[in-house]
Amino acid sequence: MNTPRILLIVGGGIAAYKSIELVRLLRKSGMIVRCVITRAGEQFVTPLTLAALSENKVYTNLFDLKDEVEMGHIQLSREADLVVVAPATADLLAKMAAGIADDLATTLLLATDKPVLAAPAMNVRMWLHPATQRNVATLRGDGVTVLDPDEGEMACGEFGPGRLPEPAAIFAVIEAALSSPLPLAGGVGGGPVSFSRSSADMPSPSPSRGREGDLVGQPDFAPANHRPLHGRRILITAGPTHEPIDPVRYIANRSSGKQGFAIAAAAAEAGAEVLLIAGPVPLPTPPGVIRVDVETAVEMAEEVRQGLPVDAAIMVAAVADWRAADTSAQKIKKDGSGAVPPLALAENPDILAGIAKSADRPPLLIGFAAETNDVIAHAEAKLAKKGCDWIVANDVAADPMGGESNRVHIVSKNGIDSWDRLPKAAVARKLMEKIADELDARSPRQPD
Ligand code: CTP
Repeated sequence: MNTPRILLIVGGGIAAYKSIELVRLLRKSGMIVRCVITRAGEQFVTPLTLAALSENKVYTNLFDLKDEVEMGHIQLSREADLVVVAPATADLLAKMAAGIADDLATTLLLATDKPVLAAPAMNVRMWLHPATQRNVATLRGDGVTVLDPDEGEMACGEFGPGRLPEPAAIFAVIEAALSSPLPLAGGVGGGPVSFSRSSADMPSPSPSRGREGDLVGQPDFAPANHRPLHGRRILITAGPTHEPIDPVRYIANRSSGKQGFAIAAAAAEAGAEVLLIAGPVPLPTPPGVIRVDVETAVEMAEEVRQGLPVDAAIMVAAVADWRAADTSAQKIKKDGSGAVPPLALAENPDILAGIAKSADRPPLLIGFAAETNDVIAHAEAKLAKKGCDWIVANDVAADPMGGESNRVHIVSKNGIDSWDRLPKAAVARKLMEKIADELDARSPRQPD
């Protein structure tokens, strides 16, 4: 493959400083980077900084005749393999969606025939505003890959979705985009960016409560065999389930979904095609992951069934053991007598035990167990009861659900592998290494 060329458009926002780190990562990986900075962007980072880091001239002005002689704006927009907009402000997204070309950045975006990736960053209200959401939907429909922003505290002091995804995450998506054949068509961004060799390769669960993520599967990373899970398909369940009692009430548990989402992110980074079946959690979809949102255990069981076969399934979800035996179509009202309505429960399907017995049982089937006492003994019992290959036993006595770290023991018939307390992302990465080794030992990957 020729050295990849990135045209990076830096919009005006406080997050523009992160574009500096992105340029550094791109250059470090050997890519050629040309930067264009908007007038507003120049308020936050200087063209000089971007020029020094990209080791290339930085373009700012459409009417810079010298540039037009050296390189016309059409050429500039097309010599890249991928156009990246980071940060993509609300204003830039709006102009892109409307096809406005009133400066160099927007003119290049309209003129390009190359795939476009936009990483939004803005105030939470601006992101959630119907106008921005409409623009994002338009752009996605036009084939632009618009990443979901990160959620967290914002420079303006508010909290919510709107933060620029971390440069490493944007870089991972860029790498992914470059290593897959990018279909080009007319319109903004030159057609959908599919990161899959073929979306038909991936089991395709029916959209239930909603399906997120433009990134269909995970790409052929280059060089492919540097990714330990390249060519593997992994299914992950995460989060709690909500079991309705009536239209306004439900039975739930405290699972945050963070460990399951971290595992999905690590699996995608390791090159796997990842199907994440998520209970109701307000977490952004990790780059390169296919996500199916569900609400109840019964829905989760059905989506898991449809998602098989896979090479490995990691059941991280805290599935509710019981659901209301009868759900009321209307809100249950107090009748004034002080009588408490009975709440009869029915047992939910055991998803893990069910797929362990199914014809589609994945070659590597992993369960999770959050335990407060006798962690290993309970995990060993659960391993036998569920019929899976490993139980990742999670000691929640010291750290209640929803925390940022985990101390886990991997319990299998071969013994117990105990890890120190680690951040959830580190647990996820370590688990991916172990899974890659295990899958390679069972069925070595064929060289491409
Ligand atoms: N699990 C599942 N379906 C269920 C319940 C649990 O797939 N209905 C999976 C979880 O995703 C997890 C593993 O089984 O991987 C263990 O979950 P846990 O709730 O600890 O198991 P239980 O059988 O419910 O055991 P306990 O009596 O400790 O609640």
